[in-house]
Amino acid sequence: MSDLQPPERLIPIVPTAGSMPSQPGGPGIPPLPQRSFWEHLGGRPTFERLVRRFYDGVQTDPIIWPMYPADDLEGAIQRLTGFLEQYWGGPTTYSQERGHPRLRMRHQPFTITPAARDRWLVHMRDAVDSLELSALDDTTLWDYLERAAHAMVNSSEA
Ligand code: HEM
Repeated sequence: MSDLQPPERLIPIVPTAGSMPSQPGGPGIPPLPQRSFWEHLGGRPTFERLVRRFYDGVQTDPIIWPMYPADDLEGAIQRLTGFLEQYWGGPTTYSQERGHPRLRMRHQPFTITPAARDRWLVHMRDAVDSLELSALDDTTLWDYLERAAHAMVNSSEA
């Protein structure tokens, strides 16, 4: 996965006028505004809660915690939060500060085995659970995280 941008960043929460030709008002009326998934989930506070909970778990993990910068945990929290916010249609602060995500490239310095990926996913699963999202929102978020984690594996060695 060279580019982890979603195919469609704006989730139509309600059908737009343009997609409903029979809608009263007829053709030509402006489409209703669409909300991003980021906004739909509650914006910054939700994403920060997710990532802080994730890192609470990562810090207890003997397999993956040694890869992380213990002296810059807050920085790591901000980077992952910013990335996920941007991915889901929130502010683009991440790319303004860090440039193009190029996540696979940025993970090259770390040996990410299938076992490491699975530990990452355990902590992310716990973090997603803590948000208590609707089943649909949970699936939307989780499917992406799971696919992205599989794409980050760069070593088959244990
Ligand atoms: C599969 C297991 C994974 C492992 C073991 C792993 C490990 C790491 C480590 C050790 C860092 C450095 C921490 C820092 O200084 O920010 C990092 C950074 C990062 N990771 Fe992962 N990661 C994994 C998967 C993912 C996935 C699936 C995503 C996205 C959905 C992701 C997004 C990021 C981002 C955005 C950064 C900061 C990049 C930067 O701007 O420098 N990681 N990861």
